[in-house]
Amino acid sequence: MIHPTRRNVLGGMAALALARPARAATDAALILRAEPGRVQLAPEGYPRTDIWGYGGTAPGAGIRARQGDRITRLFENAIPRDSSVHWHGIRLPNAMDGVPGMTQPPVPEGGTFLYDFALPDAGTFWYHPHLNSLEQVGRGLTAPLIVDEAEPPEVDADLTLMLNDWRLDAEARIAEGWDDLHDRAHAGRIGNYMTVNGRPVDSHAADAGARLRLRIINAATDRIVMLGTFGLRAHLVALDGMPLADVAPVEEVLLGPAQRADLIADVAAEPGERAYLTMVERDGAYEVLRIEVGGRAGAALRPAPAPLPPNPVADPVSDGARGVDLVMAGGAMGRMGEARTADGILRPMGDLAQRGLVWSMNGVAGMAGEPLAEIARGETLRIRMVNDTAWPHAMHLHGHHFREVTEAGPGPLRDTLLMLPDERREIAFAADNPGDWMVHCHMLSHQAGGMMAWLRVLG
Ligand code: C2O
Ligand code: CU
Repeated sequence: MIHPTRRNVLGGMAALALARPARAATDAALILRAEPGRVQLAPEGYPRTDIWGYGGTAPGAGIRARQGDRITRLFENAIPRDSSVHWHGIRLPNAMDGVPGMTQPPVPEGGTFLYDFALPDAGTFWYHPHLNSLEQVGRGLTAPLIVDEAEPPEVDADLTLMLNDWRLDAEARIAEGWDDLHDRAHAGRIGNYMTVNGRPVDSHAADAGARLRLRIINAATDRIVMLGTFGLRAHLVALDGMPLADVAPVEEVLLGPAQRADLIADVAAEPGERAYLTMVERDGAYEVLRIEVGGRAGAALRPAPAPLPPNPVADPVSDGARGVDLVMAGGAMGRMGEARTADGILRPMGDLAQRGLVWSMNGVAGMAGEPLAEIARGETLRIRMVNDTAWPHAMHLHGHHFREVTEAGPGPLRDTLLMLPDERREIAFAADNPGDWMVHCHMLSHQAGGMMAWLRVLG
């Protein structure tokens, strides 16, 4: 068995005692406040870090509910920026989607907004601001939203693992530079320090043979993470909150920004050993979750888990469905010579770069005045996505889950599709949720750099 190396710490820092959690465990009843906080993100011995967080922690403590429940939260904005809450992956009414300028006004510092909606689907979701998202997510405004099935599968522990990527300086302060054009035009703002639930590593005890549900959320602003399992026999049971019809064993999971994976993992390591979920990087594997294994030697593993009950999502009928193209261009080493801005004016690259825009979708940099398509309610729309850039992109659709259309048949339901450089892939979704919905790259630096569009589903 490969033993993961010690967690990397800030550039040049020696590995020190691990940070202890510095977060309030309470889920502030009915008020959801975005506020500054000061937490021990870096290892013990380093200064605490000023963050912005829901309830003042990063990530926020999160919300747990049951499928069919209503979420009612008065959002209070106590950060020195306009903000909002977007409930990522939740199929909710358009007015609750949290997109300022499209579904609601921005919430100024000191302002409030009441979010109130039902949860149609069980699964692993999360929430974050949808204004100035790169900076606000990058300073810590992320939290899980876990929706339990009416009858959850039997497990010995149900663990949520929210991954955040931080760019910290040597004093453990969050680095500025939110407008950095180099980041925007490349892989985005990649940090130098990852946390899981706000700590360098999450650690639990479990018996040999125990069954764990791991809900992994990539809340990084831009980083793609490859996760690996050691000493666990894991099955992938859901992606982006949606159960998979076919449960398959996995040893690795690739998650683009905003994507989630649910694993049911049985502890295969022996008592006295450790099992791990790791993040696999070029220079080695870093611990994300460490399981100290106890119990009896030679414990039998359980049979493979059954699929989770499906969510009530309308399936796209892609045969004969209308298709639109979504062509991504720009970025470093890209071929975007010019693009239109929201005002319809065609501008050369240099002019766009001065406005912070380095990417375009269908020739428009930034939010277009016109929707990508107007779709009748109930219609299936196919989107042919063309990544005509040298960079990966995590394409996210609001208000709906889609399936990829492939030669081998429809792919799993997802809300975010990770596209590699030069890939062309097609998705289809049943447009059953009226309103204006964004389609954008969830690498938040790319979104800030122009990768945004929207669709209109007619009522
Ligand atoms: Cu997770 Cu448009 O957002
Ligand atoms: Cu992108």
